[in-house]
Amino acid sequence: MKKVFVRLFIFLFVGSLSVFAQDAGHQYVGAQKCKSCHKKEKDGKQYLIWQEGPHAKAMEALASPEALKIAKEKGIADPAKDPACLKCHSTYASLKPERLHPKGKLKLEEGVSCESCHGPGADYKKKKIMKDLEKAKANGLIIPDEKVCKNCHNSESPTFESFDFDKYYDKIKHPRPEKK
Ligand code: HEC
Ligand code: HEC
Ligand code: HEC
Ligand code: HEC
Repeated sequence: MKKVFVRLFIFLFVGSLSVFAQDAGHQYVGAQKCKSCHKKEKDGKQYLIWQEGPHAKAMEALASPEALKIAKEKGIADPAKDPACLKCHSTYASLKPERLHPKGKLKLEEGVSCESCHGPGADYKKKKIMKDLEKAKANGLIIPDEKVCKNCHNSESPTFESFDFDKYYDKIKHPRPEKK
């Protein structure tokens, strides 16, 4: 009997550790909250580049004729409402309510938002923290690499063909301009 409890304890404890190692439970705020500081031309207008790119349009993609055709083949009634599609097409969709910051603005419609790649932003988005890369990382900021992309760009995606990081990154990049 005792052994079972010990195992259960180890299971719960180690289980929760592995989750927190990835994102320590920070809350999500949505792209609108990043916009205020990341939209100016001189800083690299990351918000505007994202807004024009494929990730901000990932929910629109689920309403396309192609999406409806894929869904039909899989017996899914509405891809824009089905977790099997939403899990990669919307940051918002798979979050439990407690992961949404009360003053945040993250919505289903914003598709693959900043925080799917950069980590939940409630704690790092303050200017004082953002200015210091190490502090920002300690508060949940992720500087994403190829591995982050492959969470979604993989063969589980019904339209997946291949993923070449350099080629794909080039299409979505939003660097800060070189300081002169
Ligand atoms: C209050 C203003 C402010 C807000 C809000 C803000 N940022 Fe920042 N962010 C900054 C500043 C300032 C820097 C540092 C820029 C520099 O050093 O040139 C920065 C840097 C960054 C960097 C680059 C880190 C590095 O050094 O490579 C990323 C990535 C980033 N922010 C993402 C986000 C995301 C995602 C959000 C929304 C969740 C967000 N920021 C919200 C001000 C802000
Ligand atoms: C594992 C993550 C993942 C899942 C699950 C997923 N998708 Fe996608 N989807 C992607 C990615 C990544 C792309 C970008 C193109 C590519 O490489 O497949 C994409 C692209 C698409 C496109 C093409 C969009 C365009 O602009 O051409 C359609 C349509 C689509 N998905 C529909 C669906 C439907 C319908 C479902 C549910 C049955 C679904 N997806 C489930 C990740 C996913
Ligand atoms: C949370 C899931 C997710 C992550 C993480 C993600 N993507 Fe995507 N990506 C998508 C979906 C969904 C689409 C399809 C959206 C559409 O077509 O409107 C897409 C589309 C794209 C496209 C357009 C593909 C085309 O056929 O035109 C590029 C380029 C891209 N992603 C690059 C990247 C890169 C680079 C990374 C990592 C830095 C990344 N993505 C991370 C979900 C994701
Ligand atoms: C699909 C994944 C993805 C999404 C979505 C995304 N980013 Fe990024 N972002 C990246 C990658 C990859 C880099 C480059 C990281 C590096 O320097 O190695 C980056 C870099 C940055 C930088 C640093 C630029 C520099 O040159 O130092 C800022 C600032 C930033 N992103 C802000 C944002 C904001 C704000 C949003 C939403 C409006 C956003 N990103 C959405 C993947 C993403």
